Amino acid sequence: MTLAWKPDAIEGRAVRELLIGESAPIRVVRRLVCQVASTAASVLITGPSGSGKEMVARAIHAESNRASGPFVAVNCGAIPRDLLESELFGHEKGAFTGAVSQMRGRFEDANGGTLFLDEIGDMPADMQVKLLRVLEDRSVTRVGGRAPIRIDTRIISATHRDIGTAIEDQKFREDLYYRLAVFPVHLPALAERRDDVPLLIDHFLRLFAEPGREITLSPAALDELCAYRWPGNVRELRNIIERAVILFPGGVIGPDEMALLLRRAPAEKRDEREALWASASPPPPPARPETPKEKPMGGPIDLKWMVAEFEHRHIVDALRRCNGVVADAARHLSLQRTTLIEKMKKYGIVPNPV
Ligand SMILES: Nc1ncnc2c1ncn2[C@@H]1O[C@H](COP(=O)(O)OP(=O)(O)OP(=O)(O)O)[C@@H](O)[C@H]1O
Ligand SMILES: [Mg+2]
Repeated sequence: MTLAWKPDAIEGRAVRELLIGESAPIRVVRRLVCQVASTAASVLITGPSGSGKEMVARAIHAESNRASGPFVAVNCGAIPRDLLESELFGHEKGAFTGAVSQMRGRFEDANGGTLFLDEIGDMPADMQVKLLRVLEDRSVTRVGGRAPIRIDTRIISATHRDIGTAIEDQKFREDLYYRLAVFPVHLPALAERRDDVPLLIDHFLRLFAEPGREITLSPAALDELCAYRWPGNVRELRNIIERAVILFPGGVIGPDEMALLLRRAPAEKRDEREALWASASPPPPPARPETPKEKPMGGPIDLKWMVAEFEHRHIVDALRRCNGVVADAARHLSLQRTTLIEKMKKYGIVPNPV
């Protein structure tokens, strides 16, 4: 099938501001965003971690006629499976133990706007069936509720997984895939669009540098960044520039600074990790590995254990996603950096940069 460019798909301001880059692949993505924005089509965004999938979803919303409506993001991989159904579809009072009041689900929250289902590839099989039904009926039924509620919600989903393989392995329903991927958009890894690196560096320098304390990159540093393999994609680049601005305000980034920023040698990794610990107060006690390992068997529900296990899992996951950058993981978890560091100490978690 050949895609006919819609003549009126002129790049809007929002998409240009949100999706920086002039490489051929990012221009195609911007074009697709503008073409699909004004339609009701479900969009599935694929691409490696940190490549900008959520940015694309936000750009589609911002360019659509739903822009003044809500944009609601749900990370399907981060919500415990027992809670996912009521999180998405809501529940009635008394629907299950703990349902002390009626609650609207995220589908309803996003009514008139866009629901962004992130990490859709992690959705449990039983929820896939329920989601398919919602997409077919365009209505949701709250857990414990009877009457379906009509919803006018645009669905955008994203995954960093190879969904084709997940379908082959029967981990993801093919019928759901076709519902979600009416309009697929793929974001290539940053290493496949290196032309964007200087523009993104400029963008993040402007975003992070304080007036009067701007930093300058030496030509050698710029060359090194352009040639770097970017395993963490745009998120990693953003982190590096944010770190550079914090560590060397008003300075020039040369080869030595680059070595620290790119955490090349293990010793340097250790230095920076220690610097991170040192910047948090009070100083860390020796690691106390309190990782909750095994669920206590039988007996009453151990809420403390469940909370600790939940917290531990999400902290480890956030650090992994953010390449071990504590500040970024804290933002991802909506925590103060110092709070996250305290929790990491409590569970004996050490950031493990790539
Ligand atoms: N083209 C771009 N222009 C400007 N900023 C970008 C661009 N792409 C990504 N970013 C920034 O990079 C970071 C990572 O992007 P985003 O969260 O959209 O990635 P993702 O693909 O959803 O990652 P993950 O799979 O880990 O959820 C964000 O801070 C975002 O603002
Ligand atoms: Mg994302």
